[in-house]
Amino acid sequence: MNRPLDGKVMIVTGANSGIGEGIAREAAAQGAAVVIDWVTNGEATDKIVSDIAEAGGTASGFQADVSKVDQLAALIDFAVSDYGRLDVMVNNAGVEIGQTTADLTEDRYDFLMGINLKGAVFGTKLASDQMRKQGDGGVIINTSSVHEDWPMPSDLAYCVSKGGIRMLTRTAGVELGQYGIRVVGIGPGAIDTPINADDTPEETEALRRAIPLGYIGKPAEMGRVACFVASDAASYITATTIFADGGLMQKPGAV
Ligand SMILES: NC(=O)c1ccc[n+]([C@@H]2O[C@H](COP(=O)([O-])OP(=O)(O)OC[C@H]3O[C@@H](n4cnc5c(N)ncnc54)[C@H](O)[C@@H]3O)[C@@H](O)[C@H]2O)c1
Repeated sequence: MNRPLDGKVMIVTGANSGIGEGIAREAAAQGAAVVIDWVTNGEATDKIVSDIAEAGGTASGFQADVSKVDQLAALIDFAVSDYGRLDVMVNNAGVEIGQTTADLTEDRYDFLMGINLKGAVFGTKLASDQMRKQGDGGVIINTSSVHEDWPMPSDLAYCVSKGGIRMLTRTAGVELGQYGIRVVGIGPGAIDTPINADDTPEETEALRRAIPLGYIGKPAEMGRVACFVASDAASYITATTIFADGGLMQKPGAV
């Protein structure tokens, strides 16, 4: 039986934990050959690669810091030399720093922007350069957030970076449509991943109660959204963001 991503080659950045891991595992289950980009914790990468192989899928790990353009270029070269092409680039790596306008420091701002925004901008540029060379389209997925629209008053730089992702997706989507390259943001709400590890149980419970569907989302649910966007079933979707937040954004002031 044909699977939606059979024959596709996908890179997922920041993919040995959380949402990136959810996307990588689901994409491999749907038939893609997946390159798992990572920066720390090589053992976690090895475990995901071996789980995928055991299930009959195809994956490999590659260490690259997305804030460095030469490392992003090496990541794409690795996928192309190992698997022959690149069909889907998922710019997923991201960090939070928890600094307000009052607290913000230059070094933490540069750190966050280098990963969250520069990494996604150059991931989009380099992946689309490769896809244009191939000449038969492609898909670029940017992991955004409800915070591309919705202020989070505890992390100014994070919201600025996700607002930037919103315009990256829209502008690159418009520029690249003529080549059959779709650029789509996925906008998670609150998802159970290490990025939220510092939340207190009280904060997590307040968040859960604010979500109309009544629970914190799972990485596997984001994996299914990303794989839908990557598949031909989403052939007419570009230059926009698909939110998956359990309804959270429709309750202004909920958290
Ligand atoms: N969890 C949520 O509630 C939530 C909500 C909305 C958006 N997001 C976004 O989802 C994405 C994934 O976050 P997550 O929640 O899975 O948390 P996570 O911490 O599990 O994932 C972030 C990943 O990025 C990697 N990373 C950090 N610096 C990197 C670098 N320089 N180069 C390459 N990789 C790097 C980390 O190692 C990690 O694997 C982020 O872009 C985040 O902003 C998360």
